[in-house]
Order: sequence, then C-alpha cells, then structure tokens
Amino acid sequence: MLEQVNQLTKDIEQYVVQHEADLEAFRLKFINKKGSVAQLFAKLPGIPTSEKKAVGKILNELKETAQTKYRYLTNQQKKLTQNTYPKEDLTLPPPPDSLGALHPLTLVKHTILSLFEKIGFTITQGPEIEDDWHNFGALNFPANHPARDMVDTFFVAKDPDKVLRTHTSSVQIRVAEQQSPPIRAISLGRVYRNETISARAHCVFHQVEGFYINQNVSFVELKQTLLYFIQGLFGPAVKMRLRPSYFPFTEPSAEVDIDCRVCTGQGCNICKYSGWVEIMGAGMVDPAVLKNCHIDPLTYTGFAFGMGIERIAMLLYQISDLRLFTENDIRFLKQFTLYI
Ligand code: PHE
Repeated sequence: MLEQVNQLTKDIEQYVVQHEADLEAFRLKFINKKGSVAQLFAKLPGIPTSEKKAVGKILNELKETAQTKYRYLTNQQKKLTQNTYPKEDLTLPPPPDSLGALHPLTLVKHTILSLFEKIGFTITQGPEIEDDWHNFGALNFPANHPARDMVDTFFVAKDPDKVLRTHTSSVQIRVAEQQSPPIRAISLGRVYRNETISARAHCVFHQVEGFYINQNVSFVELKQTLLYFIQGLFGPAVKMRLRPSYFPFTEPSAEVDIDCRVCTGQGCNICKYSGWVEIMGAGMVDPAVLKNCHIDPLTYTGFAFGMGIERIAMLLYQISDLRLFTENDIRFLKQFTLYI
C-alpha cells in the first residue's frame, strides 16, 4: 500500500499538461471518484484497526497533493489559453470597412456643379420659402396670369405671398438683383410642386439652374454651353436637340432633348419610342426680367437654363422609379459611384 502511495505521489508530482485533454485525464486518474486515489481509499476498511489511522492520514495527504496539483494545473492552463494569440492569420489584410456611400443625387449634383465651375460659373443659393415676387412676379408671371398654372404651387400658411419655391429660377432673380453683369451663376436645391407622387413625379425634387448675363450674350453661346455640359455628363457621342417652347421668363425659349441613353435612339419605353428624352428648359432671359432686376436690357442680354437633378440621375444610372431616391433603402443607395 505504501509503495502504491509513493508511486502515485511521484506520478502526481511529475505530471505535465501539454494539451487541454491532459488536464481532464489528470482529473479522471487522480481526482475522480473512480480514480486511483479513491481506489486506495476503498481499501481502507480492510486495513487492520491499529494501522487504520496512520494509513488514513497518508491517504488524505495523497488526496490533498492530487487536489493541489490539479488546481495548479488548471490555473496554468487558463493562463496559457489567455495568452495565446488570436487564431486568425495576422498577416492577412484586414476585412474592408463597410464605408457609407454618397446618395446618387449628391453624386450627380457634384458632377453637374463641377462641370459648370470649370467654365466660370459661381454656385449660389436661395431660400426654399419664397415670396411671390422672386418665384413669379420678377420672372414675368403677372398676377392672375395663366402661366402660374403651369405648375401647382404650395402656399405657406394661407399667405398668398409665401410659396414653397416651384423652381430655382427664383435664385436667378435674387442674384441678378444683388450683382451687376457680367454674372455667371449656378443655383441648385429643393423645389416643391403639388404633384401626385409616382414613378416619374414627386412633390419635392431638386433643380439646377444656370444663367449668364453680359453684353452680347447670344443664343449660340447658350447652345454651346448646353452642348459642353451634356457631352461632359453623357459622353461625347450624345446628341442634343432644341425644341421651341414657352417660359414666361425667357424669350425665345426651348426644351432641350438628348437622344435616349437607354436605347441610343432606337426607341424604348423610357423615351416612349421617340428616341429622345427631354432633360431641361432653356432660353434667352426675357428683357422684362432683366428690367425687374435693374439691369439695362439694351446693354445686356443673357441666357438661362434649368433642369431636374432626379431626371438626370435616372438617365445616367438608368433608374426607372423616382421614388427610390427617397425611400432610403440602403441596398439601393449604396451602389452608386461618381459617374464621370
Ligand atoms: N424654371 C424652369 C422649370 O422649372 C426651367 C427653366 C429655367 C427654363 C431657366 C428656362 C430657363 O421648368
């Protein structure tokens, strides 16, 4: 018996743990109720009474040695697992951060602005809640004139003088009132029209308006400026055409079409099988408008143009439903990069 105790004590003292499984093996062998130490305890009843006390003491010491060693091994193992480095391969490049993306309308806005900045236009802004004069009156929409019905206007707080601006042309007036020619300005922002929301229309959308006032500004300059812009945006192969139109603040006025980017003029449902899509309105600033801004129409002439940013973005990115821009579905919004 004593020999067995000595052997076990030796085994316990020399035991080393190399893997986690060795620790469990130690427990099963020395600590478990069916382990070797317990087996020795089981022999105790057969020991002569005179020796029982001494043997019991030795066995208790053995048990204590086993338990102390087990605690020590457990602690050591814990420290080891805490200190181990992460199992990942640290030499691999880190996973890419999921960066946010710019909204497609912001991308298109940046693109449009940078094209006009390159040819000397300054960026200007004006209020979204406008007075009648800047949204209509100065732009040659006389009171009660049917041209005011071209768009459905939102009025603010039943005040007939306060409207949510229906176009960014109002900024044209504000700038022309404050500056003297030559003026090359571009304005952009939200505009409001009381329209039913559909795939092609919204009651809130964005416009960019540009205008140039100087001596001898001609329609040719307007046309070349638009061509420069449209080619910058859609590529050199794009075709442009001007159709006569009407706006109270320009004379002559035109609608500007480009050949359909989706079917390249072959005919599809985006261009309603005409091969052309309208992208903006333009024209020579009406002399009455210049007069309203205290600019002498005999000395100065000017051109102006305006477009919806949503419309441009839909054509550039081939988006068929305008509502997608405002529904905030991240899966849709994050797929765009700068177009040019
Ligand atoms: N303001 C016009 C619109 O909202 C666009 C336009 C701007 C037309 C400038 C001609 C000149 O449709």
